[in-house]
Amino acid sequence: MSELDVERIREDFPILRARQNGKELVYLDSAATSQKPRQVIDAVTNFYTGYNANIHRGMYDMSIKSTEEYQRSKELAARLVNAGSWTDIVYCRNTTDAINIAALSWGEPNIKKGDHILITDMEHHSNIVPWMMLARRKGAVLDHAGLVDKSFVDMDDFERKLESKPKMVAFTHASNVLGTITDAKKMTKMAHDAGALVLLDCAQTAPHMPINLKDIDCDFAAFSSHKMLGPSGIGVLYGKEDLLEQTTPAIVGSDMIRSVSFDHVDWNELPWKFESGTPNIEGAIGFGAAVEYLNGIGMDRIREHEKEITQYAMKRLAELGNVKIYGPGVDRMESRGGVISFNVTGAHPHDVAQIFNSEGIAIRAGHHCAMPLVNQVLDETAVSRMSFYIYNRHEDVDKAVDAIAKVEKVLRLKKS
Ligand SMILES: Cc1ncc(COP(=O)(O)O)c(C=O)c1O
Repeated sequence: MSELDVERIREDFPILRARQNGKELVYLDSAATSQKPRQVIDAVTNFYTGYNANIHRGMYDMSIKSTEEYQRSKELAARLVNAGSWTDIVYCRNTTDAINIAALSWGEPNIKKGDHILITDMEHHSNIVPWMMLARRKGAVLDHAGLVDKSFVDMDDFERKLESKPKMVAFTHASNVLGTITDAKKMTKMAHDAGALVLLDCAQTAPHMPINLKDIDCDFAAFSSHKMLGPSGIGVLYGKEDLLEQTTPAIVGSDMIRSVSFDHVDWNELPWKFESGTPNIEGAIGFGAAVEYLNGIGMDRIREHEKEITQYAMKRLAELGNVKIYGPGVDRMESRGGVISFNVTGAHPHDVAQIFNSEGIAIRAGHHCAMPLVNQVLDETAVSRMSFYIYNRHEDVDKAVDAIAKVEKVLRLKKS
């Protein structure tokens, strides 16, 4: 596996030349959102300066081109995650929106009083609350499978919870706090054997590793462009074709209708059926450019790069002796993505993030929209998190380690 030419890649990201507090920017918050290469910025600018027109509705060249580019973006997205057909790719705003669309469109007619829905203890709020609200509306039960070693889904508990015959099992492909990569294929098979459908939250995997949705066999999947070099406000809901065909859209109007009278409506064909109103055309085109950029590097190489830099960071942090790292250990890199949540003994994570900021280093601190995991499972009010992507290098990790020395100094921490 060839190494990434990170210095070459960095040249494509204009923002990495920015300074923060007089220091060279070290961006370690890609799990929240990634930076954008100029190829993506150019694709959006070219749309606006060259062929800005609504899709589907025009018979003129610019509208035909914007329609073709919009569709091409879906073809690229479908191939990236091996979704089968581009018609199984519904564009929406982001992962959160995608899960809500599934919970509303599929969930409303299919979840009944007393039914069970199963999630896990490592879910992002986006994969908890839509199901919680659905369960509340329907009088259904929301179960959650626990974790072992505060890191991995407890497969015994998962199996036990499947005995309630949930109609939907929704879980993350990778935790944005622990970095844990779940065994999505195995969990999907177990859920299917129990009679459930599966929604897979790929927000933290689609940007970082090869994904094969056909092989995993999940029924729905969700991910966001902005975490994978693309623009904000565009995301993917993938659904198996027959499921999307059977499902009635929850948000309706505009181009997703084939014909309508005052007492009848026929839905448009897939995937337009689920896209109401004028979509985020420039976002989709920028997202297409992002996928092309990722393809140009290769998802295998991206995964290897992140594994390597995460391992390096974990080792360096462990050497300090006063840093607690959450999630799978350095011996479990196969099950770990490029996210490291940590706490410095005696320091509040918000102080840590602020001191990092004074050194030009962008990290995140808080509950990371996973309060049940952070508060109840990890028993913390907050954790600091650094997360890596294609433009990060060892030097960034070294600066983060140096910043921890500054944390110790500023907060006058005593090492035991
Ligand atoms: C695992 C996971 N799921 C869902 C989301 C929500 O993504 P978005 O804010 O793009 O909707 C995130 C965002 O951090 C995430 O990490």
